[in-house]
Amino acid sequence: MRDVMRLDLITIFPDYFAPLGLSLIGKAIADGLLDVTVRDLRDFTHDVHRTVDDTPYGGGAGMVMKPEPWGRALDAILAPDAIDESAADRPVLVIPTPSGEPFRQSVAEELSQKRHLVFACGRYEGIDHRVAVWAADLFDVRELSLGDYVLNGGEVAALAMIEAVVRLLPGVIGNPESLVEESYAGATDGLLEYPVYTKPASWRGLDVPEVLLSGHHGRVDQWRAEQSRELTSQRRPDLLR
Ligand code: 6GU
Repeated sequence: MRDVMRLDLITIFPDYFAPLGLSLIGKAIADGLLDVTVRDLRDFTHDVHRTVDDTPYGGGAGMVMKPEPWGRALDAILAPDAIDESAADRPVLVIPTPSGEPFRQSVAEELSQKRHLVFACGRYEGIDHRVAVWAADLFDVRELSLGDYVLNGGEVAALAMIEAVVRLLPGVIGNPESLVEESYAGATDGLLEYPVYTKPASWRGLDVPEVLLSGHHGRVDQWRAEQSRELTSQRRPDLLR
């Protein structure tokens, strides 16, 4: 069996991560597959106001997160196992940011192979860049974006990434077959997933496509493949090479 995955989250809003106690992720924690620690960045400040931000050098709108609290928080995370972090399996520091590389299923798969993930959730205009530069000596640093839109901070993005990663851990999803058939993985060949139906066969005047009731597996597979291709060309033509 794989080692427990360690997850450290640094944020100024620890309450954002309450949903990690729910559903499949909550069960993974209860089952000992996942060890999650949420840390409040303000606990690593030294001033009475617990300041985490300051004005940007060079001017401009908004505030930038100061490097010192981040440095202390990351030191605290590394301290317990400073000795056994081998070069081959370094902890990963994920910095969610709209200017990151795209977070894709392939990235989720990569991260699901790691023992220790740290999410640095920034707010405001981002974290002083020296934090990422300094951390690169100790972590594999990944600046990752969910897509081409702007969120107020990294917390919601981190939740999405964590869910995508954790569901890939062995034992988290009851039926591993369901991982193979879905969009962006395996059987659908990088295409979007076909539409699905269940009982009743007729609902509010809408009928389930006849072929799905036929019991003819060859025709069902063919129909689903056509639907996948059609959907993908309408919604995500970029996925059709
Ligand atoms: Cl990872 N962070 C923020 N703040 N906004 C985003 C994002 C991440 N991905 C898309 N928009």
